[in-house]
Amino acid sequence: MLKVGILGAGHLGKFHINNWLKIKDAELVGFFDPNDETAKAVTAQYGLKRFETADDLIDASDAVDIIAPTNFHYDLCEKAIKKSRHVFVEKPLADTMEQAHRIVKLAKEANIKMQVGHVERFNPAFLALKGYSLAPMFIEVHRLAQFNPRGTEVSVILDLMIHDIDIVLSIVKSGVKNISASGVVVMTETPDMANVRIEFNNGCVANLTSSRISMKKMRKMRLFQKDAYIGIDFLDKKTEIIKLKDENDKDAFTFDIETPSGTKEIAIANPVVPDANAILLELEAFALAIKNNTPTPVSEVDGLLAMDIAHQILQKIQSANYVVR
Ligand SMILES: NC(=O)c1ccc[n+]([C@@H]2O[C@H](COP(=O)([O-])OP(=O)(O)OC[C@H]3O[C@@H](n4cnc5c(N)ncnc54)[C@H](O)[C@@H]3O)[C@@H](O)[C@H]2O)c1
Repeated sequence: MLKVGILGAGHLGKFHINNWLKIKDAELVGFFDPNDETAKAVTAQYGLKRFETADDLIDASDAVDIIAPTNFHYDLCEKAIKKSRHVFVEKPLADTMEQAHRIVKLAKEANIKMQVGHVERFNPAFLALKGYSLAPMFIEVHRLAQFNPRGTEVSVILDLMIHDIDIVLSIVKSGVKNISASGVVVMTETPDMANVRIEFNNGCVANLTSSRISMKKMRKMRLFQKDAYIGIDFLDKKTEIIKLKDENDKDAFTFDIETPSGTKEIAIANPVVPDANAILLELEAFALAIKNNTPTPVSEVDGLLAMDIAHQILQKIQSANYVVR
C-alpha cells in the first residue's frame, strides 16, 4: 500500500484528496497545510490527520502530492526528494527555471518517481485521440477563463497557457525555432492575456491565446494536418475529426466536395470520448509508475520543458516593456 501525504489542502488539494480516497492501492496518511481554518475544515470533512510540519508528513509518507502555491513548490520538492520520497507536484513545476533545473537534478540523483500535474494530458477529449496519428502543421489554441484571484501570483502564461504548451510539446516532436509573443497587463501585476506564436523546426506553427479576464470560458485546440482537421474541446469534452474519407470511416457521416481535381469524399468522425475523471487518472498513473517502476506519464523533464517555453514567452513580452514575473 502506497502511503501518500498531501502538502497543501486548498481548492485543488481537496479534489486530490477526494481522488486519492478512490485509489485502492494508496492510503492517505494525512496532510500539512499552514492555514488553520483550511486544516480544521479538512480534518472535519475527511477525518484526515493534520501534521504539524511538512517534514513530519514527508517522514510518514512513501510519496507526497504537492498542491501548495507555486512559490512553495521548490522547497517542498527539495525536502521530499532529499528524503527519497516520490513526488507528484502541481503545475507549474517551480517558480524559476533555476529551481526547475535543480529539481530535475535532485530527482535524478535520488532515483525517485516524479510527475507534474499537467492534467489536460488526461482530459477525456484528448484521450479520445489515443491511437490516432497526430502530425499537425498548424495549431490554434484558445484558453479563456473568467477572472479568479487564485493563481494570479504568476502570469497567465504560467497559470493557464502552460497547459496548452505542455499538450503542444507532447504532440509536436520537434525543436522550437522561434517564439513571438505579446501580452497585456490588465487586472494584476503580470500579463492577464497573451498571444503567442511558436514555430517548430519541422515547420509546424502553434498559435496560442490565453486570457484570465474573459467574460466566458473556452478551452479549445484545433489541429490542422495534411489529412485532417482535429478539434479538441477540453471544456465540453468533445473531439471531432474531419478528414478525407478512407476505409476506416465506414460508420462516419460523409459528404462530397467538388474540387478541380474531382469529387472528394469528406468524413466527419466523433471519436468516443471516455467518461473519465482526469485528476483520478493522473494520480492513478503516478501510483502505477511507482508500483511498476516505470516512467511517469508527465515527468519532471516535461514540466521543465513546458516551463522553459513559458519563460521564453515571458521574456519576449518583457522585452516589449511589460513588467512580468
Ligand atoms: N492542474 C491544474 O489544472 C491546476 C488548477 C488549479 C491550481 N493548480 C495548481 O495547484 C496549486 C495550488 O492551487 P490552489 O488553487 O489549490 O490554491 P489554494 O490557494 O486554494 O490552495 C493552496 C493551499 O496550500 C496551502 N499552503 C501554503 N503554503 C504551504 C506550504 N508551505 N505547505 C503546504 N501547504 C501550503 C495554503 O494554505 C492553501 O490551503 C498551484 O501550484 C496551482 O498552480 C493547478
